[in-house]
Amino acid sequence: MNVLKIAIQKNGRLSENSKKLLEECGIKFSNGISVLKTTAQNFPVELLFLRDDDIPQYVEQQVADIGILGENVVFEKNKDVNIIEQLGFAGCRLSIAIPKEETYTGPGYLMNKKVATSYPKILSDFLKKNNITAEIEEISGSVEIAPGIGLADAVCDIVSSGSTLLTNGLKEVETILKSQAIIIGNKNLSKAKQDILASLLFRIRAVKNAKENKYILLNAPESAVEKICAILPGMKSPTIVPLVEKGWCSLHSVVKEDEFWERINQLREAGAEGILVIPIEKMIL
Ligand code: PRP
Ligand code: ZN
Repeated sequence: MNVLKIAIQKNGRLSENSKKLLEECGIKFSNGISVLKTTAQNFPVELLFLRDDDIPQYVEQQVADIGILGENVVFEKNKDVNIIEQLGFAGCRLSIAIPKEETYTGPGYLMNKKVATSYPKILSDFLKKNNITAEIEEISGSVEIAPGIGLADAVCDIVSSGSTLLTNGLKEVETILKSQAIIIGNKNLSKAKQDILASLLFRIRAVKNAKENKYILLNAPESAVEKICAILPGMKSPTIVPLVEKGWCSLHSVVKEDEFWERINQLREAGAEGILVIPIEKMIL
């Protein structure tokens, strides 16, 4: 039987959300999760729990068929894999940070300095692009402590909330790249595996769309309907239900969540009342 092998991060920023995404797709994993892998009960996939840094190579070699991991790792490892889908979670940036009391003068600040990082390839590309000669100190973890123990003058590391930098007396001075969780895939998947991947992606997109959109219900005088539809461009053809009160109706539609927040005041000025915004669980376009 054909099974799609999915590699996810074993421990770290992406682990929980990667598993959650698959569960939201209706895929059930047995509770007795072994440390290395688990098979889904109701969908032909198998989960492999790996170090994120190893995932690109394993996908290239087809130890795993696809992998869920940060773009940052994919760009750094630069393996021969397909980039399949951006997932919109685990947003972060790869940045240069320096001790907070120092004054940053631009990339030239790094000239002849020592920079600690787990991202030597991306950092060296950045330095080259800016014609900077600097020493790269490659370390695999706890990069943020390097300046404090005299190992480096600066770091190039992942920043998410910024709290790691803060607690280590560092400040972010330059963003080199922005990153989010993505799916990568082996380039030679069999037809059967491609089919499983296609149905998995169908589910993932339904979950993703649902998160970005909300179901909205509001009451408005019939005379205001046209204006309200113009305020919410996503509201192309809303359902309109008459209310018992004459001249009033209830309007139902789907809107982008951010669009809604930007326009809430305009909506109320246009006469909308009793506005309800409801989460959507799955959305198939
Ligand atoms: C990164 C980075 C910091 C932390 C920053 O680790 O190395 O330790 O996240 O997050 P914060 O700004 O919210 O404090 P990541 O999980 O990317 O790395 P790993 O896979 O190498 O553990
Ligand atoms: Zn890692």
